[in-house]
Amino acid sequence: MASAGRGQWSGKAGFILAAAGSAIGLGNIWRFPYTAGENGGGAFVLVYLAFVLLIGVPVVLSELSIGRFTKLNPVGAFKKLAPGTNWKWLGGLGVLTGFGILAFYSVIAGWTLSYLWGAITGQVGGVTTAEQSNAVFEALIGGSLVPVILTAIFMAMTILVVRGGVSNGIERATKILMPTLLVMLVVMAIRAMTLDGGGAGIAYLFQPDFSKLSVDVIMAALGQALFSLSLGMGAMITYGSYFPDRENLPQAGIVVAFFDTGIAILAGLIIFPALFSVGVDPSAGPGLVFVVLPSIFAQLPAGGLFAIAFYFLLTIAALTSTISLLEVVVAYFVDEKQWDRKKASLWIGLACLVFAVPSALSQGAVGGLTDFLGTGVTYLDIQNIIWGNYSLSIGALGLCIFVGWKWGIPSALEALEASGHKLQGHTLWSILVRFVCPVAVGAILVYIMITQQYF
Ligand code: PFF
Repeated sequence: MASAGRGQWSGKAGFILAAAGSAIGLGNIWRFPYTAGENGGGAFVLVYLAFVLLIGVPVVLSELSIGRFTKLNPVGAFKKLAPGTNWKWLGGLGVLTGFGILAFYSVIAGWTLSYLWGAITGQVGGVTTAEQSNAVFEALIGGSLVPVILTAIFMAMTILVVRGGVSNGIERATKILMPTLLVMLVVMAIRAMTLDGGGAGIAYLFQPDFSKLSVDVIMAALGQALFSLSLGMGAMITYGSYFPDRENLPQAGIVVAFFDTGIAILAGLIIFPALFSVGVDPSAGPGLVFVVLPSIFAQLPAGGLFAIAFYFLLTIAALTSTISLLEVVVAYFVDEKQWDRKKASLWIGLACLVFAVPSALSQGAVGGLTDFLGTGVTYLDIQNIIWGNYSLSIGALGLCIFVGWKWGIPSALEALEASGHKLQGHTLWSILVRFVCPVAVGAILVYIMITQQYF
């Protein structure tokens, strides 16, 4: 359980980039737009933003406080703070969830690799209509061998970085790539918003139609807020555990939350205008972004080159997220089971790959996985909902109860402010963690269980 030799970020900027690297990923660019599109647009976005502020930010700070104080993985952290209790199972759920998310996330990340390849070979850059784009998408992901191989390549890349450890592997990669991604997204948003018919997309994103609100929409928005901020499974506990003692943690946490949310909105400002201008249905599902984006490249100067650069960065954004997913599981085996980091990275990564295969084959290759158990949605969608919505929500609920009522706000605050930098508005934070988050998340989960509306 010793924390010596676990590694550390080089400083606040290093942490912000790595944590933003975890938060910013396919969740922002792939999951946010299609989930917003499936759930009616503006009303979903409003609820999502409210959840980021009322639940996301307080939970970020809670996870970071636990990580900084214990300097341990999620299971070890709960064991240290509440020895001999069942709270360690909450950490265990987090580790399992990291594994579960990685097992489908790596499949989508594999798709981005195939788009990168498609951009390099000119297949993607030359697409102009939605039909062409759809055909490219289906050809790329509907196969059996190719999606599995792409997932395996992505998993191998993730394993290689996680093997290298905290500051060498993870931090170095994010330093240049995150700012570049931001600049490219801004350029694409400007182009998309000035497309013919683009204004309708902006309206769809920001004008809430409250008749679209339902418990499903609220659950999806909660799951999305947590997923996008990498919360509810201990990723921020783990990343906070490598935070240097002297630096301002409350500020770093809040910066990461705003950075992440800004990128999601920016992705929305690209996808929705583009979607309305090419006539794609907003509720097209998980393929949405992949089908819509190519239409923008065709309308940008040097679109082919732009497409290559964009998919390269998207791949990296996905990689900095898969790294954090694998890192949570690896940190558990390194801290608690004394495994060697290299061995842990390899074996856990390979095991996860095995669990990823059904998701990779669920996009048309195997009928039983495409319409899983007669639910009308794919096996991958179900994984996304179970791990990415339910499990994260249960994790966030448990975490708030733990920090608010078991460990206690004064201890958590002391850990957060250990460097002497204060958390502005800590009374509000305390109210949100103790009352608002548990009641809101608890009520949503109970309501969904009783009415069983979600599936
Ligand atoms: N936040 C990542 C994204 O938006 O792509 C996904 C993710 C990473 C979720 C790490 C959870 C996590 F712990």
